[in-house]
Amino acid sequence: MARNRSRTALLAALTVTALSASAFLVYGWQSVPVKEDPLVRMPGTQPDNGVSLEAPGRCLKCHAGFNAEVEPGFNWKGSMTAQSARDFLYWSCLTVAAQDSIWAVGTPNATDICLRCHFPKGWLEGRSDPTNGSAMAGADYDGVQCDFCHRMYEPFYQDAWMGEREGSDWVGDWDETNASATPSQPAADETHAADRTQASSILEFNGQPFFANDRPPTSYTEAGSGQYYVSGNAAKRASFADAAARHQMLHSRFHKSKYMCGTCHDVSNPVLDNWARTGPIR
Ligand code: HEC
Ligand code: HEC
Ligand code: HEC
Ligand code: HEC
Repeated sequence: MARNRSRTALLAALTVTALSASAFLVYGWQSVPVKEDPLVRMPGTQPDNGVSLEAPGRCLKCHAGFNAEVEPGFNWKGSMTAQSARDFLYWSCLTVAAQDSIWAVGTPNATDICLRCHFPKGWLEGRSDPTNGSAMAGADYDGVQCDFCHRMYEPFYQDAWMGEREGSDWVGDWDETNASATPSQPAADETHAADRTQASSILEFNGQPFFANDRPPTSYTEAGSGQYYVSGNAAKRASFADAAARHQMLHSRFHKSKYMCGTCHDVSNPVLDNWARTGPIR
């Protein structure tokens, strides 16, 4: 009898251990819905904000196959930028980052931030839940892609428009010299109006407008770490006022500036910093 009792006790102890271990595992790897997690919040166009991007396949019909040395298509396809979502090093690091995140804040959610830069289409269209990337699909895997970059707009559009943000190292460009039949200033004015419309849909996390008098809050001085602003308007934005596109387009001085690339190439992860201020989310 004594032997049986101790065996029952042992079994009970093992069961408790096994249950709590699996409970811990489930708890650890379960990502909290991103929308409910203040730790990963950063300004910019948010997921499910009505922005949906065209897949690169469409762009390649016209912007590829004519001159591999200069065409956008060929040069994009061979870049790491285009492979940012397929890169096996990225996937390995994503797993490590998820483990670190569980260790530090109890959920793998910090990897939402990775998806924001490496999977911009899927992130914008609401497929970063769960944060291990398993909901990503189709052209999401084309990483940093044509329509994503060509729909980005400048959150400091007012200062940029006034010539106070980006400097003026582009003033010698052909279409900026007024030598072109399509001078740049009226095109820049049109883009400014379009930016204002887009900015009006950006809200604070408390639901209040983020922009006032055409500017973000004064404490907001840069939009790095993947805080991109992406237009819901399908017009393609790039540097040339006088391009004769076969679709709607907007002249964008932002696309001539370092700030455009700096949106993602200036990286830090806000999760630990936010954690230090707000503590655990559950
Ligand atoms: C039906 C053909 C066609 C398709 C499809 C197409 N484009 Fe274009 N696009 C053009 C042409 C033509 C131009 C003008 C090129 C020039 O002036 O040298 C252009 C110009 C542009 C410009 C330059 C605008 C500027 O201000 O410099 C961008 C950016 C652009 N396209 C992006 C895209 C993207 C992104 C897609 C896919 C979502 C796409 N295009 C699909 C034909 C097309
Ligand atoms: C990482 C962001 C990014 C991606 C991805 C990207 N572009 Fe661009 N693209 C730019 C920028 C910035 C410029 C402006 C360059 C300049 O001012 O010289 C540009 C210029 C252009 C132009 C203007 C004409 C030219 O050749 O300079 C076209 C057309 C264009 N891109 C189409 C595309 C297409 C099509 C794709 C996808 C196959 C693509 N881009 C992918 C950022 C991007
Ligand atoms: C703000 C945008 C941004 C965020 C957020 C971000 N990355 Fe990146 N990542 C980049 C850029 C840009 C590069 C390329 C840097 C370069 O080559 O100079 C890069 C490169 C990498 C590389 C190197 C790939 C190679 O083949 O050399 C790995 C791995 C990687 N990122 C993983 C991650 C993981 C994991 C996370 C989340 C913890 C993450 N990234 C978050 C923008 C970002
Ligand atoms: C949406 C965020 C994002 C933006 C905007 C962005 N990049 Fe990147 N870029 C990445 C990521 C992510 C990688 C890393 C991909 C990897 O190695 O897995 C990368 C990689 C690169 C690389 C590595 C080398 C290669 O072969 O491509 C270069 C160069 C680069 N980007 C240039 C630029 C330039 C120039 C701009 C601005 C016109 C730009 N990027 C804008 C996210 C971005």
